[in-house]
Amino acid sequence: MNFLKPTIFLILCLVTLIRSQPSTLTIAGQIFDQHPMYNNNFEPRGGNLRTGLVEKTLSDNKLPKLISSVTTPDSLNDQGRMVTPALFTYFFSTSGKDLSPNSGANVPIGYDIVLNYDTKKGVYVFDNQAFFPIDERGFDTNKFYRNYTDGSKYHNFHFCLKMNTKFTFQGYEVFNFIGDDDVWVFINNKLAVDLGGLHSRESGSVDLTKLGLTKGVTYDFDFYYCERHTTASTIRIETNMQVFCPFEDYCGVCSGDGSTCCNKATTCNDGKKCTIDACPPPNADIKKSGSKITDADIYPYCSHTDVVCDAPDLCTNNACDENTGNCKTTPITCNDQPAKCLLAQKCDPNSGCIYKSKCDGVCDTGACSNGDCVQKTNNTCANELGNNPCMVYSCGKNGCEAKPKCPQNPATPCDVSYCEAGECKIKHLNATECDCGCDRDDLCHKNNCVDNKCVPIPIDGTDDGNECTEDTCVNGEIFHTPINKCSGCMTCNTKTGDCDLSDKKCQDGNECTSNSCQATDTLGLGECTNTTVVCGATNTDKCIQFSCNETTGCSSSAVVCPNEGNCLVGYCDSNKGCLTKPRSCDTGVFCLVGECIEHAGGCVVYEKRCDADNGKCQQGVCVNGTSTEEGRCKSENYDPLPFICKTAAVVSTAVIAGVTVAGAVALGAFIYGGKRGYDYWKDTRNVQFSGSNSNPLYEQNPNGSGVNPLYNDNSTL
Ligand SMILES: *[C@@H]1O[C@H](CO)[C@@H](O)[C@H](O)[C@H]1NC(C)=O
Ligand SMILES: *[C@@H]1O[C@H](CO)[C@@H](O)[C@H](O)[C@H]1NC(C)=O
Ligand SMILES: *[C@@H]1O[C@H](CO)[C@@H](O)[C@H](O)[C@H]1NC(C)=O
Ligand SMILES: *[C@@H]1O[C@H](CO)[C@@H](O)[C@H](O)[C@H]1NC(C)=O
Ligand SMILES: *[C@@H]1O[C@H](CO)[C@@H](O)[C@H](O)[C@H]1NC(C)=O
Ligand SMILES: *[C@@H]1O[C@H](CO)[C@@H](O)[C@H](O)[C@H]1NC(C)=O
Repeated sequence: MNFLKPTIFLILCLVTLIRSQPSTLTIAGQIFDQHPMYNNNFEPRGGNLRTGLVEKTLSDNKLPKLISSVTTPDSLNDQGRMVTPALFTYFFSTSGKDLSPNSGANVPIGYDIVLNYDTKKGVYVFDNQAFFPIDERGFDTNKFYRNYTDGSKYHNFHFCLKMNTKFTFQGYEVFNFIGDDDVWVFINNKLAVDLGGLHSRESGSVDLTKLGLTKGVTYDFDFYYCERHTTASTIRIETNMQVFCPFEDYCGVCSGDGSTCCNKATTCNDGKKCTIDACPPPNADIKKSGSKITDADIYPYCSHTDVVCDAPDLCTNNACDENTGNCKTTPITCNDQPAKCLLAQKCDPNSGCIYKSKCDGVCDTGACSNGDCVQKTNNTCANELGNNPCMVYSCGKNGCEAKPKCPQNPATPCDVSYCEAGECKIKHLNATECDCGCDRDDLCHKNNCVDNKCVPIPIDGTDDGNECTEDTCVNGEIFHTPINKCSGCMTCNTKTGDCDLSDKKCQDGNECTSNSCQATDTLGLGECTNTTVVCGATNTDKCIQFSCNETTGCSSSAVVCPNEGNCLVGYCDSNKGCLTKPRSCDTGVFCLVGECIEHAGGCVVYEKRCDADNGKCQQGVCVNGTSTEEGRCKSENYDPLPFICKTAAVVSTAVIAGVTVAGAVALGAFIYGGKRGYDYWKDTRNVQFSGSNSNPLYEQNPNGSGVNPLYNDNSTL
């Protein structure tokens, strides 16, 4: 066949323009090496196939869940040999726990499963009838664990494998599985293959066209497989689904959880007992310093959150103990606050420390300045008692008092002193005047003439001007005795002698309580009321929150709404309060899909996969938008075409139908569709085939067999 050489030449030239079915499909998955010692769901007594063990819907965390959490004799879990249901979660996730019996401890290992394209069947196949991918790895790097055989030869039997991928539905796919033991496959998060339990080889098959999927839509494909028992391990997967990995974790595992290269207890340990160390989210963008990611690369991305110890009330401290890492409660001690003249009284569980001012003496104003009680001045007392210019005011042991400005000299009773508009004057009385006599025995009274009659009056200073004292004089000595008729938080008004309610006496130095003095039924008795201050009582905006601090009082701040998981972002609405909305991961580029994936830790970006008009013969190709044209999907034939698409009829039909075909296919179209078909195609497509008339192929089909030589099964292409 002399035309073959130029054909090869031409095809090679066209290789960059054409698309071929990939010969392998690699899915990076994650293996969790298990051991019967740490998870007794492995190597229990033999069992059988048991469907219905797991819930039919896969949740966002991508961990299958057992339907039942108990195992009683002959129950579902017993039949499925789930000896300890609580350990099921560690089939496909790390426990982060120590190596103690039945702790669920496992060893995560990255694992690539490579499916080969079977051109005859047009499917990708993975087949391994002795599937022991982690011999001498995981736990078994230590010889101590290598106790299981297939009868004669050692193998690492106990492990689980998961692959969390996606695919764009082309409209015709199938998925087949044959093997042992448990297999669960979820498509679009719905259980599609259910081969749970311990069993020898079983098969499961899914025709994806029966699942109600929409062509061109991208769905999740999640595969879970466990090898739980000796002495065989077989697996065969067959599918024409083109699964892809939506993201790789920083360890390089498809949809991995980061556990194959990060261990929170070692990689992320900050040495502090009062922080909770966590590995970075799987989608963290960590730069490797070398060819392999190291703990040092990862450490800066670890998170360390403080252990939160909630205080039961305002009189108890709850703090993390740096030595043990546990929360420890201690009672709050209320200390005096000398700078504020406050003496600690007690602690109130609802409002905190309660104080009493030390400035409650009769001469204290109640104010405090730099730790000292502010005293009443002479002026304060003058104001309090009436500001008589003939009086001098001061504060004494009974509070404010007034003394005469011009006191009588007892030694000269006939020189009567008096005060006129603040000025002291003396009036001389002789012995006969008013018949008072100048040497009298009564030292508590002084002479006074009224209508020429002698009417002695109390000596000056007898009245202190303070209505709250009783004034007495004995042999010329004056006494002011306080009248104790006011009690509790009532104080006596020096000017009027009435009992006044004194709120000042009730102040407890705590801004979160409101204190006042209230009269009781008993005359002269006042009692303090203490109510807890309600901050923001009149506020209606649900996005403002209030709090009270015993020293600074009420304050407000904006409500911070928490996110729910990784893909729901919290925000605040003034009327409704906290709400969530989906996290936007939009890339703005048609061929790059931004998607929030819960188990990835947030946004991931992957190339858009397009479906093709005829998925068996064509590949969907994504075309980015430009300034003038929107992005779109187009279909391009595979080259070489799969056998099923290899008839001239298919090609020429495609050409006539105007399906976009790549150059090499166009040649086939020329050969089998004849010159007319080729010219039609050439005229309608703007292909860069110049001088096709000089093309050595521009002649009639040389072998005339009707079989396309370009796609001959024996072709060396
Ligand atoms: C493996 O077998 C050895 C020898 O019988 C025994 O000492 C060891 O405990 C076994 N290890 C495990 C993990 O069962
Ligand atoms: C206040 O009055 C008292 C008694 O009259 C007097 O001793 C004192 O000096 C006065 N204080 C001031 C600051 O004027
Ligand atoms: C007393 O005073 C009156 C009037 O000032 C005067 O008339 C009288 O002489 C005085 N008597 C004596 C004893 O000084
Ligand atoms: C109010 O507080 C004061 C000061 O702590 C206290 O003596 C009083 O008993 C309290 N009264 C009430 C009604 O709680
Ligand atoms: C109240 O505020 C003070 C000063 O800002 C602060 O030192 C104190 O810790 C706060 N108390 C509480 C219970 O938050
Ligand atoms: C589309 O554009 C983005 C951003 O420029 C680029 O990364 C991506 O590879 C393009 N995809 C295709 C299919 O051209």
